[in-house]
Amino acid sequence: MYKKLFIPGPVPVHPEILAAMATPMIGHRMKEYAELHARVTSGLQKILFTEGKVFLATSSAFGVMEGAIRNLVGRRCANFCNGAFSDKWHDVARRCGKKADAVRFDWGKPVTPEVVEQTLSTGLYDSMTMIHNETSTGVMSPLPEIAEVMRKFPDVMFIVDTVSSMSALKIPVDELGIDSCIFGVQKAFALPPGLTVFTASEKALQRAKTMEGRGYYFDYMEFAANDAKHNTPSTPCISLIFAMDRQLERIFAEGLEARWARHRTMAEYVRQWATDRGFGLFPDHKYCSLTLTCARNSRGIDLDGLKKKLAEKGFAFDDGYGKIKGETFRIAHMGDMTRDDLAELFAAITSIMPELA
Ligand SMILES: Cc1ncc(COP(=O)(O)O)c(C=O)c1O
Repeated sequence: MYKKLFIPGPVPVHPEILAAMATPMIGHRMKEYAELHARVTSGLQKILFTEGKVFLATSSAFGVMEGAIRNLVGRRCANFCNGAFSDKWHDVARRCGKKADAVRFDWGKPVTPEVVEQTLSTGLYDSMTMIHNETSTGVMSPLPEIAEVMRKFPDVMFIVDTVSSMSALKIPVDELGIDSCIFGVQKAFALPPGLTVFTASEKALQRAKTMEGRGYYFDYMEFAANDAKHNTPSTPCISLIFAMDRQLERIFAEGLEARWARHRTMAEYVRQWATDRGFGLFPDHKYCSLTLTCARNSRGIDLDGLKKKLAEKGFAFDDGYGKIKGETFRIAHMGDMTRDDLAELFAAITSIMPELA
């Protein structure tokens, strides 16, 4: 039996999306593909509030996260690290042979505009990476405030992972001045994994043009050249792009404002459920994510046992990530999920642990 997913990605995929993936195949150099590609990228531009380029890469997010490093990091990169995925991004930068420094925050804390400003004021860096929503800790960093600081450093590439946040709230890429915004589709977009969307500002394309060692598969210049023909450098995951086409229709039918409000409602509901039962929240309340809640296991319950019993009832539950596994648990509330789905999970939890009713 397949379990209903409450883990922070992949998340449940709507049957209409699965059906869209069964659309008969087309060739990616055919006009039908160019039409699909143009429709999907222009829909994405509306969700991202960008008039810049939106590219589609057949890869999980880390493919493009590595690509961004290869294309945009010249002199030295500041990797702001406040959890497992941002730590890994720093590791990727080093593995690409780049000069890069990790600027670390304790897990559970956000990236702060003050530290970004202090770090970039040294003049050492021509690029920075940060993760908007650290999925490992459930922390959402204050992107607008950080973007404000970034205006003082126009020569520093502003590279942002919005893997687990894009579409759940307004992230206006152009207004924020993000040079490359990257997200995989298996989280807040609620599609199966395998497609990553990314943007490139004019400044990013100019930087990429001068960079050596961009490689081929994630070369921003290849993406830009193919984009002119509504195409991709190599054969894309066409079935997933059909799925994205359908999902964009569904997102616009719900309405962006309504989608953002649904995420806010779900987040408040889950936080309340957890705190009412004596569980603390891992991040400070102000920085709690809108797409997943990372709660402290303040009551010392047997999370592994709960996870196993929930699995028997058909629910996939997450008992924390990396070094905070067991100490915390995470509940996803993103994509197409609703408050009713969460209520179903909570009912299952209380049927196993009546003391949490
Ligand atoms: C914030 C964030 N960035 C990056 C990744 C890595 O994505 P992928 O596994 O698609 O490469 C994840 C996956 O959980 C994530 O949550």
